Amino acid sequence: MHNDIEKVLFTKEDIENKVRELGAKITEDYIDKNLLCIVILKGAMFFASDLMKSIDLPLDIDFMIVSSYGSETESSGVISIIKDTELDVIDRDVLIIEDIIDTGNTLNKLTQVMKDRKASSVEIATFLDKKERRLVDLYIKYSGFVVPDYFVVGYGMDFNEKYRNLPYIGYLKKELYS
Ligand code: IMP
Ligand code: MG
Repeated sequence: MHNDIEKVLFTKEDIENKVRELGAKITEDYIDKNLLCIVILKGAMFFASDLMKSIDLPLDIDFMIVSSYGSETESSGVISIIKDTELDVIDRDVLIIEDIIDTGNTLNKLTQVMKDRKASSVEIATFLDKKERRLVDLYIKYSGFVVPDYFVVGYGMDFNEKYRNLPYIGYLKKELYS
């Protein structure tokens, strides 16, 4: 597994420090709110679990699985909800937790869905942001790191379902996906 990694981008320690920083900000911002964290499976599971432990406030947790049609490495504007939340989002301050935002299509659609369901507020926390690939205008309140347009794996992020359990984030060797 480690041999398939071209370069380590963020070590376990880089990740821990950044998550702590984001958790502190969210704690400050949501002090008098009615926080519902929605974790986008599977990619965001590691980030979300660390992040929510660093938010020092009462919160509810729910999960969604969303698939975005497109090619293997690029999403489209069409999403389908494979698994929906169990809790109602109406009047909740929803924080959507995602691993990485690329074109922005998935989160753009999902934000709209939460607004249609009458959430009091909807914000996004993503660990990584591939900003240069953005196709839609999307406001991201909490973002860990901006990364260049290379395929990354680890800390929840996969290539063909593998590498999610790497404790660090790295670039996958190009010959493995091109
Ligand atoms: P978007 O709709 O294009 O923003 O797609 C975001 C989703 O694509 C993320 O939730 C990831 O599942 C996936 N994705 C985008 N870039 C990468 C990457 O470099 N590595 C792993 N997954 C990625
Ligand atoms: Mg994902």
